[in-house]
Amino acid sequence: MAKKEIKAALIYSFATKKTSTAAKLIKENLNELNLTEIDAEGLNAGELEQYDILIAGAATWFDGELPTFWDEQIPALEDLNLKGKHVALFGIGNQVEYPEHFGDSIGLLADVFASTSAKIIGATSTEGYTFEDSKSVRNNQFVGLMLDFENQHNLNESRIENWCKQLKKQLT
Ligand SMILES: Cc1cc2nc3c(=O)[nH]c(=O)nc-3n(C[C@H](O)[C@H](O)[C@H](O)COP(=O)(O)O)c2cc1C
Repeated sequence: MAKKEIKAALIYSFATKKTSTAAKLIKENLNELNLTEIDAEGLNAGELEQYDILIAGAATWFDGELPTFWDEQIPALEDLNLKGKHVALFGIGNQVEYPEHFGDSIGLLADVFASTSAKIIGATSTEGYTFEDSKSVRNNQFVGLMLDFENQHNLNESRIENWCKQLKKQLT
């Protein structure tokens, strides 16, 4: 009998610069997942239920908030039933300019996706970052991948590579 095809989606705003750059690298590193790219701006949340794996990314804006287009999706996302599905989150922030709200976006998204019963994977160490507070830290780890283009641009590629390897392990 044919093995059921695993469906995976990569969700981010196509209009962003840094988040899009990170998404492209993630896609390359997860080539075998054949990710379907979905624009977070104009997202129809209901379409996400057809996927087994969701990888979602967002920068933090407005001192610890999600970009508006994500914020507007929260009620619809919270209504989804993603039981048995995996969600991995990547966030973009600036730890020097916003040390009290560093990369809050993925903590906020983790809360939203937790209410869908999805399993959140891809937590990473906070080692190597300097900040005061973040809504994205749970049990001393970031709930997903954290990138800082303004201050640690040179670490992006290795962080993305390692995270993608980790996701592949967690998904097998
Ligand atoms: C007005 C403004 C508010 C921001 N607020 C935060 C914040 O609270 N926490 C954080 O980590 N980064 C914050 N940032 C930094 C952005 O997340 C960062 O510049 C990011 O690289 C933008 O990514 P994008 O180009 O994909 O939108 C803020 C940036 C601006 C301009």
